[in-house]
Amino acid sequence: MTTAPKLSFDVQLSDHARTAAEREQVLASPGFGQIFTDHMISVDYTEGVGWHDARLMPYGPLSLDPATSVFHYAQELFEGLKAYRQVNGSIVSFRPFANAGRFNRSALRMAMPELPEDVFVESLELLVQTDRDWVPTTEGHSLYLRPFMIATQAGLGVNYPSRNYKYMVIASPAASYFSGGVSPVSVWLSTEYTRAAPGGTGFAKCGGNYAAAFVAQRQAVAQGCDQVVWLDAIEHRYVEEMGGMNLFFVYGDRLLTPALTGTLLPGITRESVLTLATELGLKPEEGRLSIEEWQAGCESGELTEVFACGTAAVITPVGSVKGADRAWTVGDGTPGPVTLKLREELVGIQYGARPDTHDWIHKIC
Ligand code: PLP
Ligand code: COI
Repeated sequence: MTTAPKLSFDVQLSDHARTAAEREQVLASPGFGQIFTDHMISVDYTEGVGWHDARLMPYGPLSLDPATSVFHYAQELFEGLKAYRQVNGSIVSFRPFANAGRFNRSALRMAMPELPEDVFVESLELLVQTDRDWVPTTEGHSLYLRPFMIATQAGLGVNYPSRNYKYMVIASPAASYFSGGVSPVSVWLSTEYTRAAPGGTGFAKCGGNYAAAFVAQRQAVAQGCDQVVWLDAIEHRYVEEMGGMNLFFVYGDRLLTPALTGTLLPGITRESVLTLATELGLKPEEGRLSIEEWQAGCESGELTEVFACGTAAVITPVGSVKGADRAWTVGDGTPGPVTLKLREELVGIQYGARPDTHDWIHKIC
């Protein structure tokens, strides 16, 4: 943990914030990650000094030297979480300290400085409090928060990591990540490309993982599928995760999810689903599943449901699977009862319709 002195945020409010009417127009149909609120957070890091210049400021472009390290060597990482307007009117986030912890585990892997967890959470609180009117009131909508960090030292040398960094948070009102809402998605098995190999960066939320994934996602779309499913790097047989979500396989009351072997992202939704599943009388298990087992399970009827989960995607059923030499349907292709029950529980806690017995909800205002 970095031992920087307690940071205090300097607040500079925008003098060109959108009007209430302009904001309402955006909130009527927010999409995902297209429009951003009026403010943003910026905190700088200098080797030997630590974190400094913490600011809330008007949202706007950055000016960076073309030789800045992040442009060349992709020393970058990010997080994703949401602010929800609960049924009682308060605005909350879901397990923000879990995101703070993952941010720092990603930072260690990318040779970047850790950010004190309380600064991470305070930065979210300040941005959401300032832009609270941007938190949607429509059921199922939320304010997506995107903390990230970039290497800002200018220079092309690769003999040492950047000595300067910038941490930022931006926020964007969000509807459903998939335009179909809770309708099942179709997935493409990527046997040609690899997302992550043992010893690599699979468990870190770094931009490079996503850059290397676009070619496979484009292939998935060309095959008529919504999302790519990543398989293990060695045999391209064992299921790991999706482009921005973890996967769960339902065998009656047994729930199987790929184990965290270092090559997939340890999703906070995944971990929450594992906890909720036990409480709902299901038997969750972390293990390994091959694409042959996935297909055979669906064909025999033993594997009844498959769903993906993540902050952006919440819990989304998987309805059909396609690969280079195979294709099949999961169940009857419609959302199953276990998927819908888990979704209802999770969303219920996030929006305050269900009691928060795990202390997952962090009140912001
Ligand atoms: N896997 C990948 C590759 C992701 O990008 C995400 C989204 O953050 C997840 C899984 C799900 O993680 P979480 O539930 O923490 O959002
Ligand atoms: C999230 O769920 O927060 C993600 O980061 C997924 C995707 C938008 C990258």
